[in-house]
Amino acid sequence: MAIVSAKEMLLKARNEGYAVAQININNLEWTKAVLQTVEELKSPVILGVSEGAAKYMGGYKTVVGLVQNLHDFLKVTVPVAIHLDHGSYEGSFQALEAGFTSIMFDGSHYAFEENLAKTKEVIAACHAKGVSVEAEVGSIGGEEDGVIGTGELADPEECRVIAATGVDMFAAGIGNIHGKYPANWKGLNFEVLAEIQKVTNNVPLVLHGGTGIPGDMIQKAISLGVSKINVNTELQLAFADATRKYIEAGKDLESKGFDPRKLLNPGSEAMKQVVRDKIALFGSANKA
Ligand code: 13P
Repeated sequence: MAIVSAKEMLLKARNEGYAVAQININNLEWTKAVLQTVEELKSPVILGVSEGAAKYMGGYKTVVGLVQNLHDFLKVTVPVAIHLDHGSYEGSFQALEAGFTSIMFDGSHYAFEENLAKTKEVIAACHAKGVSVEAEVGSIGGEEDGVIGTGELADPEECRVIAATGVDMFAAGIGNIHGKYPANWKGLNFEVLAEIQKVTNNVPLVLHGGTGIPGDMIQKAISLGVSKINVNTELQLAFADATRKYIEAGKDLESKGFDPRKLLNPGSEAMKQVVRDKIALFGSANKA
């Protein structure tokens, strides 16, 4: 299967009651670990790429080349989307031009009318190329690549209006935040989620900040229409932890343990385990 839009995989997830993972990637090791694991589990996947990660990897075209070529080399058969995460207005058009198959335009920091107008422009450009679009209503808390949200709850009326634009999926703040959750976190607001679901005509909903949300809350969110769950920090933590253990055990000093193919291996294996756990929790194994 080629690299595809996220639209069909999310509609299938919405209809069948599971969620597709968006796993954010940062480099070759991240991309390879995710692709190998989803192929092993026969799960669809969305590879999330923030503007900062794209810049780090060498630009949008490098990202598309990396994913496309690894996908072919590893003989991946499951549906894979390359998705811009929290795209700016300009970044959305650049990623589209470079061959991304899915775009999140995050206009949540604009006044609602401007977010709506810009979202419509991005949808028109993307849909003309068969590319799916995610919009955001009500900012997501925490900090991601310098974009700082305050964790507000989305207004269901704004969600209704955005959902009616023909957008393929949309993220709404329901108390979720990026990064680790603080000890005094109040949890997801299911009343707001249920209201949003009622007024948005079955458009797949996206839950950002997937790191550290307890399993029962994830399952309840899926039952209320969440069809895509984003996970980023958890892989970074797992990678860093496994790499630290390898070095602290002095393994880099034994034989050729300093070879990056060995040094980065425990981190890669740790990331694969996080992806396996998420796919089991989200219910997307064997749904490719
Ligand atoms: P976490 O880093 O909290 O997993 O959030 C990821 C995310 O929402 C990407 O958009």
